[in-house]
Amino acid sequence: MDAAVTIRRAREADLPAINDIYNHYVLHSTCTYQEEPETIENRCAWFQQHGELHPVIVAEQAGEIVGWGSLSAYHRRSAYRRTVENSVYVHHHRHRCGLGSMLLRDLISRAREAGHRAIIAGIDGEQAASVALHAKFGFETVGQLKQVGFKFGRWLDVIYMELLLDGR
Ligand SMILES: CC(C)(COP(=O)(O)OP(=O)(O)OC[C@H]1O[C@@H](n2cnc3c(N)ncnc32)[C@H](O)[C@@H]1OP(=O)(O)O)[C@@H](O)C(=O)NCCC(=O)NCCS
Repeated sequence: MDAAVTIRRAREADLPAINDIYNHYVLHSTCTYQEEPETIENRCAWFQQHGELHPVIVAEQAGEIVGWGSLSAYHRRSAYRRTVENSVYVHHHRHRCGLGSMLLRDLISRAREAGHRAIIAGIDGEQAASVALHAKFGFETVGQLKQVGFKFGRWLDVIYMELLLDGR
């Protein structure tokens, strides 16, 4: 039987594992439009910017970080303060085990507790898994930007999905 999975707030010690999971997708996938691996220095700075209202969480199984998620400020202009953008990344060897669902469920619940109104997911149009995951949790497609990314020699569309909460 698989070891139990714990979803918890991330700590600084988790950042190398978070970065390793993410950098696989930087190099091999269009799910992020970043093209050069994230440095640990930038990852630490990113973590410092995520306070109580913008949590970073991890999925831990048998002492190993197997996925992570975050709520980030959507826009720096103040009237956007109750809108967040979510990220979910599961280790590429651990897909289809329910980890993405556990992380997204937890992020939605934390967004509710924080009083956020809207969660936005900006998803590359080729990422059927991510679109399906968000749809499963009630996110609706609200827009598509055509050919705003260029990676691996091709133009990429971004689909925006949104979940509205009962935020203040
Ligand atoms: C998207 C991602 C987080 C899904 O994580 P996961 O742990 O595999 O997801 P789960 O096992 O919880 O599956 C949840 C749902 O996602 C959908 N899904 C997952 N993988 C899928 C695939 N390859 N094709 C179609 N749908 C898929 C299904 O609807 C699934 O529900 P079901 O199992 O009840 O059918 C994972 O594929 C990933 O890390 N991808 C790369 C990073 C990424 O795209 N992140 C999103 C950017 S915000």
